[in-house]
Amino acid sequence: MIPADVIFMPETPAHDAEIDHINEEAFGPGRFARAAYKIREGGPHERHLSFVALHNGEVIASCRLTRIAAGQGRALLLGPLAVRPAHKNLGIGRKLVAISVEAARKAGAGAVLLVGDEPYYGPLGFERIARGQISMPRPVDLDRILAYELSPGAVERLKGEVCHEDLSRSGVPADAPAEPVRMAG
Ligand SMILES: CC(C)(COP(=O)(O)OP(=O)(O)OC[C@H]1O[C@@H](n2cnc3c(N)ncnc32)[C@H](O)[C@@H]1OP(=O)(O)O)[C@@H](O)C(=O)NCCC(=O)NCCS
Repeated sequence: MIPADVIFMPETPAHDAEIDHINEEAFGPGRFARAAYKIREGGPHERHLSFVALHNGEVIASCRLTRIAAGQGRALLLGPLAVRPAHKNLGIGRKLVAISVEAARKAGAGAVLLVGDEPYYGPLGFERIARGQISMPRPVDLDRILAYELSPGAVERLKGEVCHEDLSRSGVPADAPAEPVRMAG
């Protein structure tokens, strides 16, 4: 059971350093090589749809949502989700996922996508996406791509490589080489 003195709130810039520390502790330096990290590099996360758990004023868990695009489809990417070791197995991770999904629904998102363990996220309403429907900018175990559909058809519309939504608007694929610099003369 979640202790009564743990509170949940949208994150603010003041939480950034603690969130970085929590993610480093949970995922180590390998986190930078992950497919989801590469997608999140494409633009900012949605601060008002990202939440922290606080205990005695200290951040003990964090969950972020980031706008993504795949073909005509749009969704929110959930993660990283991390809980500090001393506060694990109290239901804080599950609660953060539930708060995030509800916030995504209220924001009008069609789906929430993530790369994660089905045994954990399955009971929370996430389902595998059909193999081959979408891909990621880095290798990923396709069985770990899970989605929570909030509006009918939203998951089906996700097709092809997933990128940050900002990159889809600019029309630049996530891995496009930088424009060559032309020298005058
Ligand atoms: C995964 C994580 C977020 C879970 O947070 P938490 O607050 O400890 O989890 P909850 O209290 O909500 O749920 C605990 C339950 O989930 C189970 N669980 C935890 N991680 C799991 C996993 N990867 N796969 C399956 N079940 C898992 C626990 O065994 C426990 O089961 P029980 O209720 O039957 O005892 C946390 O362990 C963590 O930060 N891990 C490191 C980072 C990580 O792997 N993040 C998720 C990757 S997307």
